[in-house]
Amino acid sequence: MSSAITPLTQLPAWQALEAHYQKIKSVHLRQLFADDPQRGRRFSIEDVGFYFDYSKNRITEETIRLLLNLADESGLRERIDAMFRGDKINTTENRAVLHVALRAPRDQSIIVDGTNVVPQVHDVLDRMAGFADRVRSGQWLGQTGKRIRNVINIGIGGSDLGPVMAYEALRHFSRRDMTFRFVSNVDGTDFAEATNDLNAEETLFVISSKTFTTLETMTNAHTARRWAVQALGEKAIARHFVAVSTNSDEVAKFGIDTANMFGFWDWVGGRYSMDSAIGLSTMLAIGPEYFSSMLSGFQAMDEHFQTAPFQRNLPVLMGLLSVWYSSFFGAQTVAILPYDQYLKRFPAYLQQLAMESNGKHVTLNGQSISYQTGPIFWGEPGTNGQHSFYQLIHQGTMLIPCDFIGFCQTANPLGSHHDILMANLFSQTEALAFGKTADEVRSEGTPDRLVAHRVFEGNRPTNTILTERLTPETLGKLVALYEHSVFTQGAIWQIDSFDQWGVELGKQLAMKILPEVKLAEDPELRHDSSTNALIRHYRKR
Ligand code: F6P
Repeated sequence: MSSAITPLTQLPAWQALEAHYQKIKSVHLRQLFADDPQRGRRFSIEDVGFYFDYSKNRITEETIRLLLNLADESGLRERIDAMFRGDKINTTENRAVLHVALRAPRDQSIIVDGTNVVPQVHDVLDRMAGFADRVRSGQWLGQTGKRIRNVINIGIGGSDLGPVMAYEALRHFSRRDMTFRFVSNVDGTDFAEATNDLNAEETLFVISSKTFTTLETMTNAHTARRWAVQALGEKAIARHFVAVSTNSDEVAKFGIDTANMFGFWDWVGGRYSMDSAIGLSTMLAIGPEYFSSMLSGFQAMDEHFQTAPFQRNLPVLMGLLSVWYSSFFGAQTVAILPYDQYLKRFPAYLQQLAMESNGKHVTLNGQSISYQTGPIFWGEPGTNGQHSFYQLIHQGTMLIPCDFIGFCQTANPLGSHHDILMANLFSQTEALAFGKTADEVRSEGTPDRLVAHRVFEGNRPTNTILTERLTPETLGKLVALYEHSVFTQGAIWQIDSFDQWGVELGKQLAMKILPEVKLAEDPELRHDSSTNALIRHYRKR
């Protein structure tokens, strides 16, 4: 992006949207639906295997027209092309952003610094598949000749959230005679509980870290090393540890033979890496074929994002709607509500994807931002959330746009469970949009003093994403849908969605404080009075 870029708020489309917002902010969805009996159809799209209903948003055709103008004036098309071309669009780290290359077909060519990276991607995928097959078939044995029955992924952030989310999501497709666990927290409890009932002879550790220097992961990895060596001796490392990283020097220093390392590249951001070698635990769980169908799902959404006209482009529309609520309505959060138990870690996964990407306070040019950027992502699977936090979404004072995600078929058809589940999804979006008026409440015989309490204002916006079944392919599409929606938002907001400088300060301070909490003799503390007192309190005990 050139330094002569027009500030977002000075773009004609932005200003038109500000004026339009004033007109639409008090229009009710009840009105919008009454005015247009075809609204549900008009504002829904069926493509890439998804039915995307965005009719229950506080928009008109004019809103969409203006948001699409904003996309054009913001140069979204050029940004998309630049990403797919391998341009170094992560300007603060001078890196290309090429998670799309991770799922590119073998015959595609994507050039980074003069080299086609697609063959490298497939080399790693082939090595992963070979390894996964050997472990799953029992050819790869532990130090004492036993089969590997337990796989523990050690990683954090993008080296954990994608793998654990994908494992949970695709459990139905996974090896049920193997145990998969994920250790991320430096809190020793995480490691202790994950290994408590496991036999080291049957346990394989996948140490996943892009940098292989992350404090939490290296601490857990060394603990795992001690745990395995204590049970099986030093030789255990060769059969019980593999690494996923971009840093072969550190992998070798740790003692893992780089022949047992699966690499990736600096152009894969941690939070965009679940379909790289970071997905090794996923491949061990579901096998190479299902992993490959997951990649096809990602690829189908990539193609859609790259080629579909913006007015029918799912990630573009989702991204623009998110901008609409964050920057114009001032909505500070988005609730992710998957009506599928297998997606229980999906909101947590999206938290990193969206918040580490778009939680930024300056533009690409380093200018302070005057509009609201990345919202807080949070959520729980339905119907559990209905019995805890939905109250606030329905009747609280905050506007919380929600994404409802549902599947027409379930992997576990038990009586009428699935119909009940889906009936709840549909009813929630209906209740949020249309609410219940005071007249309706009164007509039910509610005493006057309770009427206000029982009123549902409605006009709470939702997207509904429906698809056939949760399969590896669907999961790939769903993740790519959000990746590209996040991209769209970042492009409009003129920010670098691919760096994460905001995580550094806390890491640096922790390294400074660590010796102060560990030292036997009282250290001289030079923090603020609160931090000093906290450290002293901890040390005393
Ligand atoms: O601290 C943030 C972060 O850098 C994330 O972006 C990343 O996913 C995570 O740490 C883990 O990093 P690594 O894979 O290098 O251990």
